[in-house]
Amino acid sequence: MNTVKTVLELRAAVARARGEGKRIAFVPTMGNLHSGHAALVTKAAQRADFVVASIFVNPLQFGPSEDLDKYPRTLAADQEKLLEAGCNLLFAPTVEEMYPDGMGVQTRVSVPQLSEGLCGASRPGHFEGVATVVSKLFNMVQPDLAVFGQKDFQQLAVIRAMVRDLNMPIQIIGEPTVRAEDGLALSSRNGYLSAEQRATAPVVYRTLGQLAAGIRQGRRDFPALIAEGQETLIAAGLKPDYLEVRHALSLRPAIDTDRDLVILVAAYLGPTRLIDNLHLNLDDN
Ligand code: PAJ
Repeated sequence: MNTVKTVLELRAAVARARGEGKRIAFVPTMGNLHSGHAALVTKAAQRADFVVASIFVNPLQFGPSEDLDKYPRTLAADQEKLLEAGCNLLFAPTVEEMYPDGMGVQTRVSVPQLSEGLCGASRPGHFEGVATVVSKLFNMVQPDLAVFGQKDFQQLAVIRAMVRDLNMPIQIIGEPTVRAEDGLALSSRNGYLSAEQRATAPVVYRTLGQLAAGIRQGRRDFPALIAEGQETLIAAGLKPDYLEVRHALSLRPAIDTDRDLVILVAAYLGPTRLIDNLHLNLDDN
């Protein structure tokens, strides 16, 4: 696996693979890779002949009081995991390579509506930062397909909308969330948790299960279900940011007759913000 740091080298390497008639897959990441990221690369390798991954901690998607500076950077370990999962080329640019004229004058991509509630409400500008960097990366790599995790459900919805609205000829694949045995969704931010917090954290996924069980049993009193779930989180020592039941495709608030639902949660455990979701299609069985 080759690692390149410039757009010029990236384009040359991708052009070589294209010249050999290869189908190109792309997996964007911010590094500090775990088995969740590896699953995306494995999926990409199944669907294409040449897999490009990127590692770029994108300042444009972090708020001023967020964890940009302390976000873990572990390039050597990441390279090993990528190689093992079947990655052919890693693009690991600097901030200057991605934003040579600075971020202030950078053209932005914004996806209205889908970006607005949930994580968009507590992280203003976050999804504009994500959509902007992902569209730049898409233009640099020009993949046939790209793989994203369902762990970031709203992000996946925003990317799908962007690709559709801007007619990008890229197939978007969403992969299921990879979890620890106790249910906690794997995340680079789990590394911020103390041993005690790590033992508490699975309550986030259990809370989603609690709401899903209620809905499966026929409950549609969403506000009461949500209040009960928030109680569970608070009793465990977490501070809920949001807990919501939404329509899985549009992400609008759920109504009684919806069959395709997603329950989404963000909660603080100490200073660490954990997110998770559970997709619940009542027509699947
Ligand atoms: P990052 O948080 O590094 O995640 C990279 C990809 O891995 C995303 O598609 C995310 O949904 C997926 N992922 C993370 N944890 C996962 C898990 N437990 N199971 C399955 N997939 C998981 O998301 C970003 O980076 C950035 O916003 C990015 C898209 C790279 C743009 O900067």
